[in-house]
Amino acid sequence: MTLQNNLTFTLQVNNQAIAIPADRIVEMFHQLYYAIKDQTWENTYYLGRHIIKCPLDLWVCQEIFHEVKPDLIIETGTFHGGAALYYANVCDTLQHGRILTIDIDRYSGVTEHPRITYINGSSTSESVVREVEAVVKNKKTILVILDSDHGYDHVLQELQIYSRFVTPGSYLIVEDTNVNGHPVRPEWGPGPMEALEEFLRNDNCFKIDIGREKFMLTMNPKGYLKKILSDGSA
Ligand SMILES: C[S@@+](CC[C@H](N)C(=O)[O-])C[C@H]1O[C@@H](n2cnc3c(N)ncnc32)[C@H](O)[C@@H]1O
Repeated sequence: MTLQNNLTFTLQVNNQAIAIPADRIVEMFHQLYYAIKDQTWENTYYLGRHIIKCPLDLWVCQEIFHEVKPDLIIETGTFHGGAALYYANVCDTLQHGRILTIDIDRYSGVTEHPRITYINGSSTSESVVREVEAVVKNKKTILVILDSDHGYDHVLQELQIYSRFVTPGSYLIVEDTNVNGHPVRPEWGPGPMEALEEFLRNDNCFKIDIGREKFMLTMNPKGYLKKILSDGSA
């Protein structure tokens, strides 16, 4: 899909016409959405559970789940379990799929759901990876969503560990690639975007699926990676 972000809009300011390219409008809206977090991304709930996601990205996930029909969705970064519950409810409707969600902290009140398994520990620790390896066995279609520690080293390590679980045709979603000036939080320092770029420099199994950015506002620019080739492990 080619994104139609090459349009230009004209704004009248003090009797002057100012042309603003669509991608700049999207960028400004992204910065606004992010800046007023008490109103937006820190004030988003799924069935009463706090969820740190833009609803447009949740819709994209739902479309991907319907297409891919994963047997297993692995999420790093459970937080209050809002996303895990949303994923489980989409799987309920599809009548297919389980969720494995991992967090270093234990948050009280996460929803018990027959499709969700919670793992407590760091997503990159040997013991957690061993637990994940036990669950992925015999699963034919696996999708991974990385949404835990958004520091460069951690995301790169997660990419190196979890990319091999993703099955060809499925997705590896890297969340919050928008920080470090892409286009928000310029002070962040290297984060998910830079880890993703480094990972892709040495990988030929994944391709950025830019069509998943069709709603223009996404917290995960370049973060929807489709596995197009097998690396021999999945
Ligand atoms: C952005 S929140 C996750 C949001 C959640 N996926 C959602 O959509 O609502 C990040 C979570 O990652 C967890 N986290 C931080 N470092 C981690 C690590 N090394 N391993 C696993 N989870 C970690 C934090 O405790 C926090 O709950």
